[in-house]
Amino acid sequence: VPVAVFASGEGSNAVQLVRKEGVYRVVALVSDRPEAPVVRKFRRLGRAVFARSVRDFPDKAAFEEAILAFLRPFAPRWLVLAGYMRLVGPTLLGAYPWRILNLHPALLPAFPGKDAVGQALAYGVKVTGTTVHLVDQGVDTGPIVAQRPVDVRPTDTPETLAARIKRVEHRLYPAVLSRILREGLVLEGRRVRFLREGE
Ligand code: GRF
Repeated sequence: VPVAVFASGEGSNAVQLVRKEGVYRVVALVSDRPEAPVVRKFRRLGRAVFARSVRDFPDKAAFEEAILAFLRPFAPRWLVLAGYMRLVGPTLLGAYPWRILNLHPALLPAFPGKDAVGQALAYGVKVTGTTVHLVDQGVDTGPIVAQRPVDVRPTDTPETLAARIKRVEHRLYPAVLSRILREGLVLEGRRVRFLREGE
């Protein structure tokens, strides 16, 4: 199943998604930061890359139209956000209704938005984690598909905690994506379940 990965930074999760291809294939990378490490990594992997700043376009709708035009020949069935630091607009949401997945480094609905790891440390929670969710028009508000806890240690800095969360994400995200494509998802109100679950 062809999917497209969206990323703005390091791209450690994006690279893991490529490493664990099987049920799905990562046919393209979309980045809003041409100079991001993830862009370099995907070029080296020989994958198709769209790397343009939103500032190169008159507005966000035009930026997202350009992404859709780039993606069209690859026909991705899902858009998989992995550290894509931009709110998805109505153009992409309309083209991929409930077919956009995001990864967030906290147990939503706790600590949405930017710097979720810093927020969790500042609050003093003892457990945080990571969430895979469907993307809607809000910031980290869409229906939750999967979550994994990660303990916060007294000695943690934002860097050590973020790294430990990423290690969990690297296993979780490819596994959840594969399962979605193998089994299918059902959305009942806000509640998501796998089609073959509970049969
Ligand atoms: C991940 O922790 C993800 O949860 C968040 O941003 C981080 C991206 O890291 N959305 P990387 O670019 O995959 O290394």
